[in-house]
Amino acid sequence: MPAVTSSDGPVAVTGASGYVGSHVVVALMKRGYTVHACVTDLNNPDKTKHLLALNGDDYSGHLELFFANLLKEGSYDIPLSDCSAVFHAGTPMGYGGANNPRQIYDGALNGTNNVLNSVKKVGTVKRFIYTSSFSAIHHPMKSGYIFTEKDWATDNRESDPNWSSSRIDQDGEMAYSMAKVECEHIAYHFAEKDGRFDAISVCPLTVLGPLLSRVHERVNSWQWWLGRMLVGKTCERQWNALWNIVDVRDVGESQALMIESDICKNGVRYQLSAANESGEIDVLQLQAHLQELFPQINVGGPPEEINQIIKKYGAVYQAPIARCDRAREELGLKTHAIKDTLYETGQTMIDLGLVKPALK
Ligand SMILES: NC(=O)c1ccc[n+]([C@@H]2O[C@H](COP(=O)([O-])OP(=O)(O)OC[C@H]3O[C@@H](n4cnc5c(N)ncnc54)[C@H](OP(=O)(O)O)[C@@H]3O)[C@@H](O)[C@H]2O)c1
Repeated sequence: MPAVTSSDGPVAVTGASGYVGSHVVVALMKRGYTVHACVTDLNNPDKTKHLLALNGDDYSGHLELFFANLLKEGSYDIPLSDCSAVFHAGTPMGYGGANNPRQIYDGALNGTNNVLNSVKKVGTVKRFIYTSSFSAIHHPMKSGYIFTEKDWATDNRESDPNWSSSRIDQDGEMAYSMAKVECEHIAYHFAEKDGRFDAISVCPLTVLGPLLSRVHERVNSWQWWLGRMLVGKTCERQWNALWNIVDVRDVGESQALMIESDICKNGVRYQLSAANESGEIDVLQLQAHLQELFPQINVGGPPEEINQIIKKYGAVYQAPIARCDRAREELGLKTHAIKDTLYETGQTMIDLGLVKPALK
C-alpha cells in the first residue's frame, strides 16, 4: 500500500493514554497529523490531561479524544472513521497484577481482532502498526546470541515443556509472549486477506525515557524499577542479565516513520532495542550512570547475590543482545543516547512527584 501523509486524513492510536501510546501521539502531532486518541476513561485527567495539552503545544497536529474499549466489539468503529493509519498500542497489561495471565492473553487477541474488524469496516486504513514486543522475538539461546527480526519466540520450542497453551492460565510471561506472536500473525494474515492495508509490527525491548503522566509509572514496569533505585532501594528486576534499553521517544518516532515509509510492507517487523552496546548494560552500570546523572542522590543497586555471580562468571548473563539496526537503516530512525534516556526517565518521575529521591 502507498505511504501515508498527514493530508490523507486522521490517524488513530489505541492505548493513547499509556506510556508507549502517548509517545506515538507526540510523534504524530509533531508531523502535523490529526490524531484520534483512544482512551478507556475520558473523565480521568491522569489519562487525558497530558494528551489534551499537546493541542496547546507548538505542534502542527491536532488531537481529538475518543472513548473505546478493546474488549467491546465495534468499539473502534467511530474512532477509526476516515482514518488512513491505525497504531494499535493498547492491550491489557499485567503490571502490578492488573490482569491475570488469561486476561492478558485473551485481552490481546480479542482486542487485536476487534480493532482489525473496525479497520475492515471503515475501509480507509492503509497502514496498521501493531505494538508487539521483543517477547515475540526472544527464545532461549546461549549467551552472546544476537537476536534479530528473523527470530520468533516460537523458535526452538520443540522440547520446551513450558511453552504450551495449556500453561496460559498460570504463566503470565509465556501468555504475554504467545499472545504477541499470535497477534502479529493475526494482523499480517488479516491484512493480506483484506488487501487494502499493510500490517507492520514494532517489537520493543526495555522501554525507558520521559514519562508524560503519573499513570506512566506502572508497578513492576522498567521505569518503576528505575524509580526504586532513585529512592535508594534494591533493583530486583533483571539484575542477573542485561537491560537492553530503547527510548520511548524512539518507539513513538519509529512508528510515525513506518506509515510514511515506502519500504514498509505487510509482515515487516522492527525490533526496537539498544542501538549499540552502550544501551546493553547490567544493573551495576545502570546504577553508575544514574549516580553520575543524579549526584545528589544515593542510588540503589542490585542485590548482594550479584557479587557471587560476578566472582564465579566474571559478569552477569550477557543477554539479550539485540540491536535496532533495521529501524535505523530502513526508516532513518535517530536514536537517543542512553544517558539522555536514563536522565529523562528519572527527572520526569521526580517532576511528576512519583519519586522522592534518596538525597545524600
Ligand atoms: N513498556 C515496555 O517496556 C514495553 C515493551 C515491549 C512492548 N510493550 C508494549 O507496548 C504497549 C503499551 O504498553 P505500555 O508499556 O505503554 O503500557 P501502559 O502504559 O500500561 O499502556 C497500556 C495501554 O493499554 C490500554 N488498555 C488496556 N486495556 C484496555 C482496554 N480494555 N481497552 C482499551 N485500552 C486498553 C490502556 O488504556 P487506558 O489507560 O485508557 O486504560 C493503556 O493506555 C503494549 O502493547 C505492550 O505490550 C511495552
